[in-house]
Amino acid sequence: MEFILETRNLKKTYNAGTVQAVEALRGISLQFEKGRYYAIVGKSGCGKSTLMHILGALDTPTEGSVICAGEDVFGRSRKALAAFRRRQIGFVFQSYNLLQEHTALENILMPLHLDGRDPDEDYLRRTLQMLEIEGLKNKFPSQLSGGEQQRVAIARAMAAKPAIVLADEPTGNLDPNTSRHTLALLKDTVEQLGQTLILVTHDMDIASEAHVRIRIHQGEIVDVA
Ligand SMILES: Nc1ncnc2c1ncn2[C@@H]1O[C@H](COP(=O)(O)OP(=O)(O)O)[C@@H](O)[C@H]1O
Ligand SMILES: [Mg+2]
Repeated sequence: MEFILETRNLKKTYNAGTVQAVEALRGISLQFEKGRYYAIVGKSGCGKSTLMHILGALDTPTEGSVICAGEDVFGRSRKALAAFRRRQIGFVFQSYNLLQEHTALENILMPLHLDGRDPDEDYLRRTLQMLEIEGLKNKFPSQLSGGEQQRVAIARAMAAKPAIVLADEPTGNLDPNTSRHTLALLKDTVEQLGQTLILVTHDMDIASEAHVRIRIHQGEIVDVA
């Protein structure tokens, strides 16, 4: 069976060869199926963000590999790697990282424009509708609540129709109700669009809704259920 994304014995050591060396990942092998929803849980400092950054090719592993649709991600040229990041991966961070001097819609379309592409209008309309931000297109980030800003950031992550959406504690800055609402919309949206969602959360109620829960402890997988 071919997986949309797979890691093989992934290791990451920060400051390797120095006294400050940190083994953040100690051999992570995981398989992600297309269209499924995965939750990654584990204590602060266990390596969740490091794993997410490597899955999204924002950082490189010290050892091991990431395979996307049968191809070794880090075996690609730098140009191909950048294209992979732009076209296959949507990244949602805890901080929204919206450009303040641009409207919501401009923010959403920015990655596509930087890639010299036009949006798929039908897809975009559907995404904005599902995230309940159609009416906010012309607002500036300062005119939006935290939850609204994060939904705009989610739409931006999805604009390029990525196969995989990576979300690293995306609602860590929101109150519990807004957090739940935002995650429900995120989950429904990726489901409708057939995307694979990998979500880091420390909320066990939210993790319980995922198809698969992956628990990490000190850089190792301790449970997949
Ligand atoms: N850029 C970095 N340089 C050095 N150490 C880092 C860096 N990023 C993370 N770490 C360390 O790697 C370990 C895992 O961190 P991280 O992946 O951020 O964990 P989590 O997201 O689960 O809280 C921690 O010990 C952290 O201090
Ligand atoms: Mg983290």
